[in-house]
Amino acid sequence: MRQASGRATAAAAQRRAFAIAILAAGKGTRLKSKRPKVLHEIGGKPLLAHVIAAAAQVADPKDIYVIIGHEAEKVRAAVADTGVSFILQKEQRGTGHAIKVARDAISKYKHVLVLSGDVPLIRAETIRRVRDFHQKRRAAMTVLTAMPADPGGYGRVLRAKGAEIAAIVEAKALTKAQHSAREINSGIYAFETKPLYRHVDKLKTANAHREFYLTDMAALLGKAKQRVLALPAGRASEVLGANTVAELVQLDADVRAQKAAALMSVGVTIYRPETCVIDAAVEVGADTVIEPFVQLLGTTRIGPDCRIRSYSVISDSELAAGVTIRNGCIVDRSRIARGATVGPYSHLRPDSEIGEGAHIGNFVETKKARVGKGSKANHLTYLGDAAIGDNVNIGAGTITCNYDGAEKHGTVIDDGAFIGSDSTLVAPVRIGKDAYVGAGSCITESVPAEALAIGRGRQVIKEGWVGDRRARQPRATRKD
Ligand code: UD1
Ligand code: CA
Repeated sequence: MRQASGRATAAAAQRRAFAIAILAAGKGTRLKSKRPKVLHEIGGKPLLAHVIAAAAQVADPKDIYVIIGHEAEKVRAAVADTGVSFILQKEQRGTGHAIKVARDAISKYKHVLVLSGDVPLIRAETIRRVRDFHQKRRAAMTVLTAMPADPGGYGRVLRAKGAEIAAIVEAKALTKAQHSAREINSGIYAFETKPLYRHVDKLKTANAHREFYLTDMAALLGKAKQRVLALPAGRASEVLGANTVAELVQLDADVRAQKAAALMSVGVTIYRPETCVIDAAVEVGADTVIEPFVQLLGTTRIGPDCRIRSYSVISDSELAAGVTIRNGCIVDRSRIARGATVGPYSHLRPDSEIGEGAHIGNFVETKKARVGKGSKANHLTYLGDAAIGDNVNIGAGTITCNYDGAEKHGTVIDDGAFIGSDSTLVAPVRIGKDAYVGAGSCITESVPAEALAIGRGRQVIKEGWVGDRRARQPRATRKD
């Protein structure tokens, strides 16, 4: 017992030694968007939420400081539930300025890991690697670097000797000779806070953007005889930034590809995975087949042995085993039980519950509707605010009239009832067990169990009517 708590205390001390600062105050001018850059999404989740999720695996949320500025309140609200702290950088005068603004909070820690709100694919294990390398090598500054195929607009790392860095030069400031430098600065660093804050006020704004660059700390600390080291990342793809829409879309594709690969590794078949959009939190069981151009979003959970046919979009829904979703369905915040079949072209709106083995067919819309075991609504139907029992047959074109212009009302259809085609059920109304409703009925009153209800004008036949009319109007000719 004592030993365990001793270890826990040591771990807590270790955590307090490191703060994590996430730079997220910038506007993201290159995205040309109203939305702040760090709230743009990849894999269905804001960039900043990805970075916080990785950071939270390494440090307590209370030791994570997100530096916000541009649209600060929006950014804060989007990630407030993670429990991290926020520091306001009112004017965004550069990455170095952001770290200056955070001085009071950060200087309480021995070290700080700096992450970028727009470098979203960083993994917790890489953050740990930076931390451990930095500590072991007793560096004042450690820079995570990479060698992407195209170093493009990234800052370049100029090495001194071995792992030591002489300077980081922004792409725009590279001299001709420096252009061949291929090692990029990922924007992810570890600093010992004492030397950082002793020298940070020496940063100057004599550069293309008239900003305080955090990158200049490399040369500043080097000059002050402090150790500045490079740590190459295992894979360059992990530290790519999202500065332009093209970069964002590429990162999104990477995240989706990883998700599809993860699902395939647990036995899900995804045809043409590059056409599917599957959010990170989605779960799918083995032997389920996902056809091209399917979207599975939010918290969707799909059981084993299902088939999701092309062009269906399923959000925040639960599908049990053996469910078939035929082409072109929209399923939103709904539940579908084992063996049910939906579609083609069905729209399950929120709070639809489709029972075991039930069939929801072509152009059927449901909303707040429970459809019991084995029941069928195969064609052209609207079921809203309805509680439908087991083995009910809903004929083509049936409408539950749930809205009277002011309020919504419920329809109840008990087990075994048969609703003839083109019926309108004017709620509130109840159709009893095993009752029949004749086709084309407008039902305004409840129908008792086992009864037949017919609510339509009686058919009239007028024998010889056409000849009679001809006699009355000899010159009338038919236009058709
Ligand atoms: C930065 C680095 C560059 C590196 C690249 C890696 C500098 C000067 N350059 O360039 O060497 O290769 O990241 O992705 O640091 N931010 C603030 N406050 C500010 C300015 C920026 O919080 O005043 C935040 C931004 O929201 C962003 C991050 O800092 O999340 C990086 O800023 P950004 O302008 O994207 O820097 P880069 O030009 O990409
Ligand atoms: Ca950037």
